[in-house]
Amino acid sequence: MKAFTRLLTLVSLCAAAVASPTPSAAATSAFPTATSVVSGLHALAKAAGKLYFGTATDNPELTDTPYVAILDDNMMFGQITAANSMKWDATEPEQGVFTFDQGDVIRNLAQGNGQLLRGHNCVWHEQLPDWVAFGNFTFDELISIVENHCGTLVGHYTGQILDADKIRAEPFNDDGTFQEDVFFNTTGTAYIPAALNAARAADANAKLYINEFNIEFAGPKATALQNLITQLKADGVPIDGVGFQSHFIVGEVPGDLVQNFQSFVDLGVEFAITELDVRMTLPETDELLAQQKQDYETVINACLAFTECVGVTIWDFTDKFSWVPGAFPSQGAACPWDDNLVRKPAFDGIVTGFQG
Ligand SMILES: *[C@@H]1O[C@H](CO)[C@@H](O)[C@H](O)[C@H]1NC(C)=O
Ligand SMILES: *[C@@H]1O[C@H](CO)[C@@H](O)[C@H](O)[C@H]1NC(C)=O
Repeated sequence: MKAFTRLLTLVSLCAAAVASPTPSAAATSAFPTATSVVSGLHALAKAAGKLYFGTATDNPELTDTPYVAILDDNMMFGQITAANSMKWDATEPEQGVFTFDQGDVIRNLAQGNGQLLRGHNCVWHEQLPDWVAFGNFTFDELISIVENHCGTLVGHYTGQILDADKIRAEPFNDDGTFQEDVFFNTTGTAYIPAALNAARAADANAKLYINEFNIEFAGPKATALQNLITQLKADGVPIDGVGFQSHFIVGEVPGDLVQNFQSFVDLGVEFAITELDVRMTLPETDELLAQQKQDYETVINACLAFTECVGVTIWDFTDKFSWVPGAFPSQGAACPWDDNLVRKPAFDGIVTGFQG
């Protein structure tokens, strides 16, 4: 098998989680730990017919030797997403000046490990340099800026990215209206086909995804994205997949997850679970950890129900580097490995999920 398949999520509306590692103080040794004896989660995902089980990582974490030892295990993780270093502020901090050093570190790591790389992301309204956000560009200027950014970014990683995740990340508000960001305010929705077409032109084989959150259940936001996909397809714009970020809360995995996946699959797109984590209000308890295990299993099962679900990525594998405490005060413990890199019951939930 080709070690490096192409995964490119382009217009990922992906929320690229702003990684803000805030290790929780609680020692986890008092809690139950995982008991599964398996060669690795990616190995299980492959055996279940998926392309990968993967994780996000971020450049500053790569100095943590015990962390990297787990990350490098390609039986555990068959795919990697750069949490921050392929975003606009990191890759085109000044107009026309592209810097791929940090993104390349992640690319090289994945390549060295024989892991797939998922792009992340091309157009997003956060982590956007001021020159884009406050440039007062005309319609034509901004379209050309988007085309140049996405084309250059995807082009740099041509043949190395499986999904250009996030060609557009998070285009919608929760009520289904479009984000009134600089792209929408200046170009309406024209920047979306512009980004997708530029990405496709740069890498004909990378899968182009839109990445979103709060679309894992039926509602105005899921409907809005379905309408967008229908429109893009009607217009002949390339769109291959949907990234369901899947930042869940313990005990609150949507009951209509499978039904909702089906309503996207019916539009003729594949999908991936791109940023899975299951957070809780701290402190951890045995009960919360048991429910979290069940929740991870439920999500993996839902992916297994569809050949169109190509893989699952967790939004970093350890609570030590989770974005959750930085984004949701008093919440955390969202990952399958704890602060001390010990496997939690959630790990067993993923194992059971893949074993069907
Ligand atoms: C953009 O336009 C606003 C309003 O006209 C103005 O205040 C601002 O200085 C302009 N910004 C740039 C970068 O030209
Ligand atoms: C976009 O336009 C809306 C409505 O006028 C405004 O509230 C919002 O601040 C604008 N966004 C940006 C990024 O300029």
